Amino acid sequence: MNDDTPDSTQELADVLQDVRRHLLWQEETAGRSLLVDAKVAAELQQQRAAASSVRTMIARTKAPEPPAASPPPRPPVESPTRDALHAAMKQPLGAARPLAAATPPPAASRPLASEAPAPRAAPAPGMLLDVPKSTPRYNGALPGVVEGERPTLDQIRRELGDCRRCKLCTGRKNIVFGSGNPRADLVFVGEGPGENEDLQGVPFVGAAGDLLTKMIGAMGFSRNDVYIANVVKCRPPGNRNPEPDEIAACEPFLRSQLLALQPKVIVALGKFAAQTLLRDTTPITRMRGQWREYEGIQLMPTFHPAYLLRNSAEKRKAWEDLQQVMKLFGKHPGSGA
Ligand code: URA
Repeated sequence: MNDDTPDSTQELADVLQDVRRHLLWQEETAGRSLLVDAKVAAELQQQRAAASSVRTMIARTKAPEPPAASPPPRPPVESPTRDALHAAMKQPLGAARPLAAATPPPAASRPLASEAPAPRAAPAPGMLLDVPKSTPRYNGALPGVVEGERPTLDQIRRELGDCRRCKLCTGRKNIVFGSGNPRADLVFVGEGPGENEDLQGVPFVGAAGDLLTKMIGAMGFSRNDVYIANVVKCRPPGNRNPEPDEIAACEPFLRSQLLALQPKVIVALGKFAAQTLLRDTTPITRMRGQWREYEGIQLMPTFHPAYLLRNSAEKRKAWEDLQQVMKLFGKHPGSGA
């Protein structure tokens, strides 16, 4: 930048002042809590670098540095909200979320799936945010989604089209997009279609599907009440695990579907669903049974029905996980509710 006019110098000094104040505030809170997630931290790093080059520039244009004896004014006692910080930094920052409560509160007043999403509550001024347990946000573009608008499942299906985005397209008979109630409060996410699903174009219709249908029934729901989708929408040959490039190609469609559905609860069936949605490589044996949060939605990881068919002793644990979900819906096992 070669603009050395006094106005631009003043402007640069003001920017530096802003950056300083916020960096100071950041440093003050360090060790007690983190305001930002990893992406924001990287952006702040860039801000620091920018501040340092602004400082250099100001020194070159002979703008007076604040004397060492009089540090920049302390930030107000009320820590800035994230929004205020965003505005001050004049840069869009990624969103960090408060940690989901270990036992989520019943969300009885949730709007219908067709209603516009409620704006998320902003943290109170001065509130220090806890570091989210994990679940960094997905930053890619979502197919079928016009920015700022809630998509419909039909729009997403149209966008998927006769998908050729990964090699699974070569062996598939049908794309298995998902099925169930588009207004569902409860969504199950599996791994990917098997042979029967591939033939019928419907998720969970084979042996694992039979078990899932029973699990849903035992929870007091029917398949028509819930929505069922998969991480990958085409059958991996020989029912092998989906590969990272296949998951990467298909995952945005699942995320769009969840944005369209906006359920109250997601049950992630097995490691591929849980690890993909949560961006967490923790084994499913450790993740299961613990409430997590996916984009503001309560998520319960549990075992995949196909695993339960091979390891029936684990069904008890899966049932415990599902009972937690039932509790959230005010349902009680054995009550027939
Ligand atoms: N297993 C899955 O993960 N999904 C299906 O649709 C069927 C079996």
